[in-house]
Amino acid sequence: MASLPKNFLWGGALAAHQFEGGWNAGGKGPSVVDVMTAGAHGVARKITKTVEDSEFYPNHEAIDFYSRYKGDIALFAEMGLKCLRTSIAWSRIFPRGDEEEPNEEGLQFYDDVFDELLKHGIEPVITLSHFEMPLHLAREFGGFRSRKVTDYFVKFAEVCFTRYKDKVKYWMTFNEINNKMDVNNPLFLWTNSGVTVKEGENPKEIMYIAGHHELLASALAVAKGKEINPEFQIGAMVSHVPIYPYSSNPEDIMLAEETMRQRYFFPDVHVRGYYPSYALKEFEREGYNIPIEHGDEEILKNGTVDYLGFSYYMSTTVKSDVVNDNRGDIVNGGLPNGVENPYIKSSDWGWAIDPVGLRYTLNRFYDRYQIPLFIVENGFGAVDTVEEDGSIHDPERIQYLRSHIEELMKAVTHDGVDLLGYTPWGIIDIVSFTTGEMKKRYGMIYVDRDNEGNGSMERSKKESFHWYQQVIKTNGETL
Ligand code: BG6
Repeated sequence: MASLPKNFLWGGALAAHQFEGGWNAGGKGPSVVDVMTAGAHGVARKITKTVEDSEFYPNHEAIDFYSRYKGDIALFAEMGLKCLRTSIAWSRIFPRGDEEEPNEEGLQFYDDVFDELLKHGIEPVITLSHFEMPLHLAREFGGFRSRKVTDYFVKFAEVCFTRYKDKVKYWMTFNEINNKMDVNNPLFLWTNSGVTVKEGENPKEIMYIAGHHELLASALAVAKGKEINPEFQIGAMVSHVPIYPYSSNPEDIMLAEETMRQRYFFPDVHVRGYYPSYALKEFEREGYNIPIEHGDEEILKNGTVDYLGFSYYMSTTVKSDVVNDNRGDIVNGGLPNGVENPYIKSSDWGWAIDPVGLRYTLNRFYDRYQIPLFIVENGFGAVDTVEEDGSIHDPERIQYLRSHIEELMKAVTHDGVDLLGYTPWGIIDIVSFTTGEMKKRYGMIYVDRDNEGNGSMERSKKESFHWYQQVIKTNGETL
């Protein structure tokens, strides 16, 4: 079998709010996730008005990378990572979001982290906003409902691009910008856009309004970044859960096709630089009033992305004669016509395990866009058991990752997809985004911390650590 390119970026992925901790250290302001309590599988995280003493907020301390970054980066280096995908906490740089000047201590923290990574030969791959808008922008301006927040984001991006122009080459603007297409789960509009929907409002229309402002923000940031350093590679990042038709019934096929527009809408604009016709028809049909101003088309056209980063965890399936009331259930992807796929098993959290779906995704994206792709999240969230001797065996995680790597290799070597790299999610155990739990672990490095915030925070290597080390060393030949 042919091999992956020599410069393939094997790495790991993380997000500031899920692992840094230090939520109010070094002048950092509160962000939209700092008011999110812990939930569980099937129990939603609460969003409080402000930080309340009586509540437990798992992201506040997270796994304390903020003060342990040197030790953690040494472990990443030992694993052999070529890159680390992480994010910059927006409210570390602009604590409220609307200040004139950035917070120097916050900027210095990322200088230190990037220097440490580079010292170990690990390339930083940076997301500008991974669910981390300053709380003030959400409370005061309604988040990306307001076009002003577009300007604040672009300013934040410009400060980061300028400061780190010689340290970071690969950037992404917004993490999983398309999560909020599922308007039934308030978590997504809140974390993506700092938006809460008011009574009487049409959530879909509000989502598209915020989405428009974010797409502009992304395009303006891309254009600015290219001015600052033409060598930058600036990408988009979307969550991708492919939607299969349940059967060969043409109604199922067409339903899957139409539902896939929920997945494609944001990348279509990011990559092509204009609104797809199916979206314009939807706005017209539904009477949505999207504030597309004179000049916006030009902005979108001039800020298309260099590559498409995406997360892939699972697939979902739709059936035309099913309308379920199980809308919030992730197995059904929050889709009204979602059904279980009889060919696919799920994790304990109900996430369908479908490695072939990754190859399918890579091919569909590459056919559609013809730009480089980057798998910036993929992984298996599961409970881990620490044995008496301290060892941690995680064969299921290894099997999940192995089977997905096999499929990505086929996509590259057999199908000819241009793939920049692979950064499995949560390379070290972190706080889960959807549930706020610690017990839903993705890491290859175990962190001694539980759902309630107890534990020594000590790090130890899981079996998968040694396995992935070999995978990287052999460029995917040893799986
Ligand atoms: C993606 C996010 O949705 O999936 C991450 O970009 C998140 O932030 C990851 O952690 C896995 O989700 P969860 O809920 O299992 O942590």
